[in-house]
Amino acid sequence: MGLLSQPFVPKCSLFLILSLFLTRCVSSVKQPCLYSERSALLQLKESFILKKSASGHPKFGSWKGEGEDGGDCCSWDGVECDDSTGHVTGLDLGSSFLHGSIHSNNSLFQLHHLRKLDLSDNDFNGSKIPLAIGRLSRLSHLDLSFSEFSGQIPYEVLELSKLVILDLSGNDLELRKPSLKSLAERLINLKHLNLDGVKASSTIPQSLANLSSLTYLSLDPTTLSWLGKLSKLTALELDSTNSKGDVLSSLKNLTMLNELLVSQNQFSSRIPSWLGNLTRLVYIDLGVNELWGPLPTSIFTLVNLEVLDLEINHISGSYNLESFLNLKNVRHLQLASNNFSLLTSTVTNVSVPKLTYLTLDSCNLLEFPNFLSSQHELQFLSLADNKIHGLIPKWLWGLSAETLEVLDLRGNFLTGFHQPIVVPPWTNIRELDLSSNKLQGSLPVPPASIAHYYASNNLLKGEISSMICNLPSITLLDISNIACGMLPPCLGNLSNHFQY
Ligand SMILES: *[C@@H]1O[C@H](CO)[C@@H](O)[C@H](O)[C@H]1NC(C)=O
Ligand SMILES: *[C@@H]1O[C@H](CO)[C@@H](O)[C@H](O)[C@H]1NC(C)=O
Ligand SMILES: *[C@@H]1O[C@H](CO)[C@@H](O)[C@H](O)[C@H]1NC(C)=O
Ligand SMILES: *[C@@H]1O[C@H](CO)[C@@H](O)[C@H](O)[C@H]1NC(C)=O
Ligand SMILES: *[C@@H]1O[C@H](CO)[C@@H](O)[C@H](O)[C@H]1NC(C)=O
Ligand SMILES: *[C@@H]1O[C@H](CO)[C@@H](O)[C@H](O)[C@H]1NC(C)=O
Ligand SMILES: *[C@@H]1O[C@H](CO)[C@@H](O)[C@H](O)[C@H]1NC(C)=O
Ligand SMILES: *[C@@H]1O[C@H](CO)[C@@H](O)[C@H](O)[C@H]1NC(C)=O
Repeated sequence: MGLLSQPFVPKCSLFLILSLFLTRCVSSVKQPCLYSERSALLQLKESFILKKSASGHPKFGSWKGEGEDGGDCCSWDGVECDDSTGHVTGLDLGSSFLHGSIHSNNSLFQLHHLRKLDLSDNDFNGSKIPLAIGRLSRLSHLDLSFSEFSGQIPYEVLELSKLVILDLSGNDLELRKPSLKSLAERLINLKHLNLDGVKASSTIPQSLANLSSLTYLSLDPTTLSWLGKLSKLTALELDSTNSKGDVLSSLKNLTMLNELLVSQNQFSSRIPSWLGNLTRLVYIDLGVNELWGPLPTSIFTLVNLEVLDLEINHISGSYNLESFLNLKNVRHLQLASNNFSLLTSTVTNVSVPKLTYLTLDSCNLLEFPNFLSSQHELQFLSLADNKIHGLIPKWLWGLSAETLEVLDLRGNFLTGFHQPIVVPPWTNIRELDLSSNKLQGSLPVPPASIAHYYASNNLLKGEISSMICNLPSITLLDISNIACGMLPPCLGNLSNHFQY
């Protein structure tokens, strides 16, 4: 085809087409990472040894200097870059087995464009947080949790004024100079602050109430009035902080709260009835405190609850078990060891929640709650120290056959089994406690998965089956105080492993 026969294409339109094409090319090509940042990452890799632990994922496997273009570090595991500039903006080295000290001369602190840095769950061998952290002034997200840092948190952390998420929990750190007050005054964009385990000065500064964006707070020491001002909080974690007093009364305004975890302190107060007004609550853990008085019935209206843990307090009164089972979404129900009685007589087994974790120790139960017979997903069931008399029903012996891991029936008045004893069909059970009952007859043989088996202080007698010797996973067998003289000889060979 001759040149002249070509249709006329106006020049400007050709130009337009080309420039559109070019624009599309430019926007779809990512910049590779910068040479200087790649070598900083490689040096970072060299500065630690890898210490394998049970969980985690070593990310350095893909971090290599060689390759066609020397390796584009933006494609390495855990590395995130800005597509248009190629700068490294995110580094996720959480649970990466890093082991060794980290100092200000670490090449990590040359990555000035970092916005997210996650070094959680590694082992920095008691290092202080390096002062050079202050150079990473673009950081909005810093997670140094559970990584064996120690010592005073440096002033340089306060230079990170863009921080939205700060997690320093699970280390041996102190926040005294600078103090929590200075932190709250400087890091005003924080939405998520976790200082669990950080030793801070004993009073909580008023300035914390000025962190008006805060939606998550976890800290050690508490004084109770400023909390009420953090009305956007969705989660409050104050577990194991050795705190005292009345934390609950200051939570009235926290209507957005989904999670309230204040377990293992010495909080002593009644549970206020307006707790039932915090209708977004999904997770309530008040366990192991000194809460007293009756439980307000408003708690039974929190229909979104998935976890309710009231274990080990001094809550008093009598409650229908059915009221708790009306919380249709509840999975974990921990009511053990209070000062109350549960009434089971009204429980029907229609439409009860599917529980995975249930503790009803010391609830003055007189019988096995019937609703249990329709529970097929229990992993942990404890009915210890109640007043249950008579025979263990057939439906209980083998309940939640595929899921149950722990069954604790210790400290009742059980006399035997409603069926000839067979090895129950639990496939995952690790711990079975039948001790301190009135069981008669011969010692039941637990399933092969058992690790800990307690049957002491019963009225068992007769031959102990030599099948006991063939349990492959057993590490603890407690059959003390049962009529002896007929231990199978094979036990003698295993005596090193056993406590009996
Ligand atoms: C960890 O610290 C200890 C004592 O401070 C030291 O002996 C050891 O060499 C350090 N280990 C590493 C990997 O830095
Ligand atoms: C980094 O600093 C530490 C402590 O000051 C020192 O022990 C180490 O040798 C330095 N490492 C390098 C590569 O300069
Ligand atoms: C809280 O913020 C207000 C207004 O922004 C300010 O006047 C006050 O001093 C701050 N309080 C504290 C304790 O920082
Ligand atoms: C709850 O909010 C009201 C009004 O905003 C305020 O007056 C009160 O002090 C707050 N209560 C607590 C316990 O902080
Ligand atoms: C809780 O809700 C009830 C019913 O809506 C209301 O009457 C009561 O004043 C509320 N209590 C508090 C402390 O907000
Ligand atoms: C248990 O509750 C009863 C009232 O139901 C009360 O008299 C008693 O003092 C409580 N005991 C404890 C240890 O709280
Ligand atoms: C509970 O339900 C099972 C079957 O789902 C039934 O066999 C049993 O009789 C019921 N128990 C009660 C107390 O209604
Ligand atoms: C104990 O172990 C020894 C050596 O393995 C074996 O010969 C013996 O039969 C075992 N005794 C019993 C009672 O199983």
